[in-house]
Amino acid sequence: MDVGGHILPHVTRPIKMDPRIGSLWLFATCLGIVMVSCYISGVACDVPDDVVYTDLHKTVRIGDRVVLKCQFRGTPLAVYWKKGDDPERSPTLVSWITGDPATGVCKGERLCRIMEMNAEFSLIIKEVSIVEQGLYVCRVANYKGSQIHNFTDISVFSPPKEPYPIINECQMNSPNDTESTCTISTSQSVEISCSASGYFPNIELYFLHGSTSLHTKDMIEVTNLDGTKNKTIYANATASEISYDCIASIPGSQERRTTTVLVNLRTSSSPMPARSKIPIDKTDGSAAKVASGGSAPMDSTYWPYGGP
Ligand SMILES: *[C@@H]1O[C@H](CO)[C@@H](O)[C@H](O)[C@H]1NC(C)=O
Ligand SMILES: *[C@@H]1O[C@H](CO)[C@@H](O)[C@H](O)[C@H]1NC(C)=O
Ligand SMILES: *[C@@H]1O[C@H](CO)[C@@H](O)[C@H](O)[C@H]1NC(C)=O
Ligand SMILES: *[C@@H]1O[C@H](CO)[C@@H](O)[C@H](O)[C@H]1NC(C)=O
Repeated sequence: MDVGGHILPHVTRPIKMDPRIGSLWLFATCLGIVMVSCYISGVACDVPDDVVYTDLHKTVRIGDRVVLKCQFRGTPLAVYWKKGDDPERSPTLVSWITGDPATGVCKGERLCRIMEMNAEFSLIIKEVSIVEQGLYVCRVANYKGSQIHNFTDISVFSPPKEPYPIINECQMNSPNDTESTCTISTSQSVEISCSASGYFPNIELYFLHGSTSLHTKDMIEVTNLDGTKNKTIYANATASEISYDCIASIPGSQERRTTTVLVNLRTSSSPMPARSKIPIDKTDGSAAKVASGGSAPMDSTYWPYGGP
């Protein structure tokens, strides 16, 4: 390809065609061959030797299809996608050695169902779940036979199941009503609870009464089979003009949701409040846990998340 315009113009005249056009043709043809061969073999031509380009970090949603790229120069002898931080000893997920099908060779029934390579040696995870979180290595025996590698760190997240947060004492009455404010009645004090489910990695839940953060004594967090989590917080509420709000916020995102409940005073003579569904109280013998004594810590100034 070293036929430059510097030499040709000095050649004697027998060629009728402008020599610059000839060299242009030659250049275009060479470029075409390079591009076509890169295209056909699916290997990067603009990557230096001895370097593997991977996505350093990827945040993916549970259930998504994920493509982890692995780019290097030339046609490789072998490519291994591994899970872990050790390019040699970490277990191999999918491998490709000259002669293997383009999708590579995988190990294990579950793995083969969700993972394969593509023609560009990217790792495809067809449906990501929480166990796929972590560090991945793409290890390559390149066209010169050098062993090279690079890493991708995957974070998986799962948004909470809609609707959230749920005030359980309201949910029991009208699970499909998310429009109107729920009202519950109590003669003294009632324990209210608030939940979010199916989230990962984390959610913050707390109760506000006006601008006061309620003391939440018990917090229950359980892990589901798919690795997502459910959380429930509990607080004591007394009858009040001011509503109780359960706030859910997802750390690292702008997501912030509020679900509201009103707690009414119920005296034995008064009828049930008009907006009430089925009030929950100890006198009903229903599911809500009811606190006795009027000294619920309503005026707590405990701010677990730095204030309202
Ligand atoms: C790893 O990949 C990153 C991102 O593509 C790149 O900047 C870095 O140079 C690569 N490192 C090696 C050792 O190949
Ligand atoms: C709530 O909605 C679901 C689906 O729309 C329905 O199957 C269920 O019966 C409803 N429950 C009540 C108590 O109305
Ligand atoms: C988490 O919440 C979901 C939906 O409310 C429920 O179906 C599931 O059983 C809960 N998981 C556990 C471990 O309690
Ligand atoms: C609610 O009040 C009862 C009785 O005073 C107490 O045992 C319980 O721990 C309180 N719950 C919370 C969440 O503060």
